[in-house]
Amino acid sequence: MRKIGIVASNSTEMDAAVILNEGEEKNVKAEDLVLIRNRNGNLVLAVCRGGLGSNENLRTVAYSPGVAYARMGRHPSNAKEFYAFGLSIIGDVTKGLEQSKYVIAPSSDVEVFEESDNPMSYLETGPEEEKGRHTIGYYKDMKPWKVPYDPEYIPYHIGVFGVTGSGKSFLARYQLIPVFRQSGMDVIVFDWKGSDYAPFYHEDQVVKLKGVYLDEDVVYQYMLSRMDYFGFTGERKYKNDAAEALEEVIMEGEWRNKSPSEMKQFLEAKAVPIIEEANRDRTGGLTVYGKMYVRKFKRGIKKLQDRDFENILGKKMHEDVERLGVRDVDVILRNVRSEIEAAIRGNLGCEADIVLVTERLYLRSDYPAPPFCIEVKSGTDVSKILPYLIATHNSATGLPLPLDMIDQNVGLPRGFTREFVEEIEANLVRDSELDKFDLQNHFARLNPQKEE
Ligand SMILES: Nc1ncnc2c1ncn2[C@@H]1O[C@H](COP(=O)(O)OP(=O)(O)OP(=O)(O)O)[C@@H](O)[C@H]1O
Ligand SMILES: [Mg+2]
Repeated sequence: MRKIGIVASNSTEMDAAVILNEGEEKNVKAEDLVLIRNRNGNLVLAVCRGGLGSNENLRTVAYSPGVAYARMGRHPSNAKEFYAFGLSIIGDVTKGLEQSKYVIAPSSDVEVFEESDNPMSYLETGPEEEKGRHTIGYYKDMKPWKVPYDPEYIPYHIGVFGVTGSGKSFLARYQLIPVFRQSGMDVIVFDWKGSDYAPFYHEDQVVKLKGVYLDEDVVYQYMLSRMDYFGFTGERKYKNDAAEALEEVIMEGEWRNKSPSEMKQFLEAKAVPIIEEANRDRTGGLTVYGKMYVRKFKRGIKKLQDRDFENILGKKMHEDVERLGVRDVDVILRNVRSEIEAAIRGNLGCEADIVLVTERLYLRSDYPAPPFCIEVKSGTDVSKILPYLIATHNSATGLPLPLDMIDQNVGLPRGFTREFVEEIEANLVRDSELDKFDLQNHFARLNPQKEE
């Protein structure tokens, strides 16, 4: 480390500037890392940004002898010249990395880190034996300064943002993914372009989208859309004899053994008789509708290309995906479950099964109003709840008032529902003897529903 200057006046805990020793203006540059030995007792890590050169003789706000020299193309005295750098504070590094809280004293020494120093060790938080184990990239222009990260933060959301071509995929490929794997995670990459990741991994580790096994229903939907729904729109898209025949042939599954070139013929050969069978007239001939469906089906088939079939012939099942090194789904689910249970124990101080077990009740306040659904703790005695719901129900909707208030058809100003429920509670507490009639009178004025 090398001392480069001292802190200038008007520093705060988060902002300071260094006045450079004579000659250091030729060495110190933006983005250099420095350590401030605060005279107030702590060490502060900072970055040089916003350099400043000053010469009292060359101020532009007023005419002076120096300005006169400058006008003539000559150089005034540089006795009043100095250089400074703004310091962006990273944090207090006296004991690990913490927020800088002490005012940085003017005239504190400022030292710059040189290549052989290791400023990154100040940023490491974990135990001593972990130091240097988790790093990502290096400080710009300083290869030996590997930037540490705290693996605890990896499960949090990570976003990479930047303009096109700024290196997002590059960062993800060469830094982020290796970091995740190092931390014991499995990584699944969805590479829609197919050019950012797929070419960089061994083919055993890549499953092409069109190699994935699709179930019959997905194939049916896909084919139907490729055939423009046989020209039908709205509800008829799926409800017409051509679509139904296609569905039958796809569901039956024999097409899976065919090559793309055999497919068209196969589908037509299978589906047309199904359509015909469903559209015979009394003499056994084809009805007008039958002819139309057959025509539409054949026209639809013509629209298909080999490429469309290639997209549905994939055979890779989820076992193949697991073989890529992804852990068993059951294991992941078990881990998730145990984490949720631990969180409940930690936050609510009770066992998870007490919280998680609820049951749904379907109740009706009066007939013929529709039933509504409430969710209660398992084993709750309904007969205790029911009288309240019936007593407070709105005869126009059949819902108990609190539910009525949040019914989506009721537009309420924000916060009104809460106020209303509090009002009900307050009234109930005040007068526990209220009967159904009293309750309705109490709340009728607050109920924004119709008068009935
Ligand atoms: N750190 C780096 N060092 C050297 N070259 C890099 C670096 N990062 C990216 N590149 C190069 O810059 C080019 C664009 O990078 P990349 O494809 O990662 O950008 P991108 O932000 O993902 O772009 P897009 O928005 O198009 O997806 C690539 O050719 C890559 O090789
Ligand atoms: Mg990219």
